[in-house]
Amino acid sequence: MTPAVATDAGTIVNPDVVLDTPCMVVDADILQRNIDEMQAFANTHGVALRPHIKTHKTPEIARMQIAAGAVGLTCAKLGEAEVMADQAGVKDILMAYPVVGAPKIARLIALMDRTHMTIAVDTEDAARALSDAMVGAGKVLDVYLEVNTGQDRAGARAGEEAIALAKVIAAMPGVNLVGVMTHEGHAGASDPSVIEEKAKGAGAALVATAEGIRAAGIPLRTVSVGSTPSSRFTPTVKGVTEMRPGTYVFNDNTGFRHGVWGPDRCAARIAATVVSRTAADRCILDCGSKALTMDASLSQGGHGYIVGHPNAVVARLSEEHGVVLLSEEDQGDFHVGDRYEVIPNHVCPSVNLTDELIIVRNGEIVDTWRVAARGKVR
Ligand SMILES: Cc1ncc(COP(=O)(O)O)c(C=O)c1O
Repeated sequence: MTPAVATDAGTIVNPDVVLDTPCMVVDADILQRNIDEMQAFANTHGVALRPHIKTHKTPEIARMQIAAGAVGLTCAKLGEAEVMADQAGVKDILMAYPVVGAPKIARLIALMDRTHMTIAVDTEDAARALSDAMVGAGKVLDVYLEVNTGQDRAGARAGEEAIALAKVIAAMPGVNLVGVMTHEGHAGASDPSVIEEKAKGAGAALVATAEGIRAAGIPLRTVSVGSTPSSRFTPTVKGVTEMRPGTYVFNDNTGFRHGVWGPDRCAARIAATVVSRTAADRCILDCGSKALTMDASLSQGGHGYIVGHPNAVVARLSEEHGVVLLSEEDQGDFHVGDRYEVIPNHVCPSVNLTDELIIVRNGEIVDTWRVAARGKVR
């Protein structure tokens, strides 16, 4: 696969629309298209779509995903799950992250009365603490075993290690082992030429592990994979039943290189104003690390992509200053007061820094949505 030739279809907000910057603007039509296309892909391949909401943290977008056909949502934090259950009315939530510690287990037990919860486990200790608490509360909790298929983050190692742990967990009275999951993030972080191979390898390792667990008499119903860069590949592996991409709703600068999308498919941008121009080849945008985050791009250099200006580089960030180095062709633009749209390198943490999304359609502001789960890191 070759890296993307980015299609830059221009800004999403009309120049005469007044905005107080920096702010995050979202094109409603690009968002809907991203949601619909991922759902269509899942339907075509016969897998359930359970999107990860850490990218948008916004009840309105969760409802759009469910309306399009998602079977439920994925969250990383209980605080996110609480918002999605209570403000988006979502009835089925996977926490693809360990739930550890008494305060969290108490919140989980309370949340189980409001929505169906499934929790990822990857250690005997965490599973046993959950099981004991469930027995005490008179409940049984569905769990997925998280499996490490190469990312070397969380997860029991695929194969014998995971199968052995599955047997231990399946014997616990307070939990019901219903599935296995992996996050094949290592595939997306690889060179584009090997993403497909790594993604399919991860899928195959997870399916083989599930088969080993079933052979031990444990009837798993779900084999769940998830990541946006590998989303066209891992779910096509026979035996995979569920996919959990998150970033696809907005897409970002990091993803240009994956050959899947260009700026025209990036729904969320930081609108920013030139606040200083003290040199011909340099200006300051009012989006620093508190808007764009410091996340690096695996794609082109710099701290974001300035829509319509592929050669202007957001070279440095202070908290409130985005230092842009201007190529010769850009030096006639970027006057103080001019507004630009910057696609973040990594949109998920950038969303977590903003209170609201300004929703635009055909260049005009049509709504404002609260990022209700922003800051919900517990
Ligand atoms: C466990 C898990 N599942 C799914 C995802 C979604 O991946 P992506 O952001 O590539 O869409 C993530 C992302 O961090 C994750 O950690």
